[in-house]
Amino acid sequence: MQPPAAPDHPPSAEPAPAPPGVKLRLANVSKVFRNNEQTIEALAPVSLEIREGEFVVLFGPSGCGKSTLLNLIAGFDAPTTGEITLEGRRVRRPGNDRLMMFQEHALFPWLNVLDNVTYGLRWLPNFRFHPLRRRRRAMELLKLVRLDEFAHASIHELSGGMKQRAALARALAPDPKLLLIDEPFPALDALVRAKLYGELQDILVRTRKTIVSVTHDSREAACLGDRVVVFTKRPGRIKAEIKVDMPRPRDINAAAVTAYAAQIAAQLEEEPRENDDGKRD
Ligand SMILES: Nc1ncnc2c1ncn2[C@@H]1O[C@H](COP(=O)(O)OP(=O)(O)OP(=O)(O)O)[C@@H](O)[C@H]1O
Ligand SMILES: [Mg+2]
Repeated sequence: MQPPAAPDHPPSAEPAPAPPGVKLRLANVSKVFRNNEQTIEALAPVSLEIREGEFVVLFGPSGCGKSTLLNLIAGFDAPTTGEITLEGRRVRRPGNDRLMMFQEHALFPWLNVLDNVTYGLRWLPNFRFHPLRRRRRAMELLKLVRLDEFAHASIHELSGGMKQRAALARALAPDPKLLLIDEPFPALDALVRAKLYGELQDILVRTRKTIVSVTHDSREAACLGDRVVVFTKRPGRIKAEIKVDMPRPRDINAAAVTAYAAQIAAQLEEEPRENDDGKRD
């Protein structure tokens, strides 16, 4: 269940040190969007600690603020209240230590697979003036996702699943401390998806990355997450946390995944429905 809310800090105070092993810490993080005369409360205050090497899935209904929260962690936007710390340092802007994989794989169609993977390395101090080092690193990652034979292929020659794997190689190449994934596998057919879930887990087990991903698919949440954080509808607040205690790799079609998925989905079904006039039943 939801951990007790972290104590309030005055905005200028340095964050309290996180317990050992905690990679990412959210303390009373909320977001209100104000456009012209409209105010949208997207996210209610959320407190959450994510440990090194943990795969946490944020699960909730459409519009509950999942992508908003991921954007705040990435530093693309600032929270209205609260603070986010990565390894004890406050997140204030985007950084190379956090990498976001978007819903659309967003590969550059005019670059081949290898150049897509080296692209993000060009501005990193260790790689900036070392094209061979960039290439070596990219080939390592392409091997990991089993696309090394397609290094010189065009993006349009890849299948949907291969594109997702190329995007994963590109995301992992700079070795980010935190990988953020927004709805990783939309619109893939069931067979490709099942295979990709297996492959993704295999890759992630080998890289031991800390990951926060977002989905509204309970089966995906059960298959991928070490822990699933369930949000209420907007303004999203944490309703429950479910620890998924299953060995990996997990088959998305396994009975145990189905059982966890049902448990996760049930949390949403308990949500009170709204009447047409916006009042709760
Ligand atoms: N830049 C913005 N300006 C104003 N409102 C926004 C902005 N971004 C998001 N919102 C609103 O905040 C709420 C939460 O949006 P968000 O994209 O975080 O939802 P989500 O949980 O990711 O939904 P989905 O599962 O459909 O992707 C929505 O009502 C959305 O319209
Ligand atoms: Mg979203």
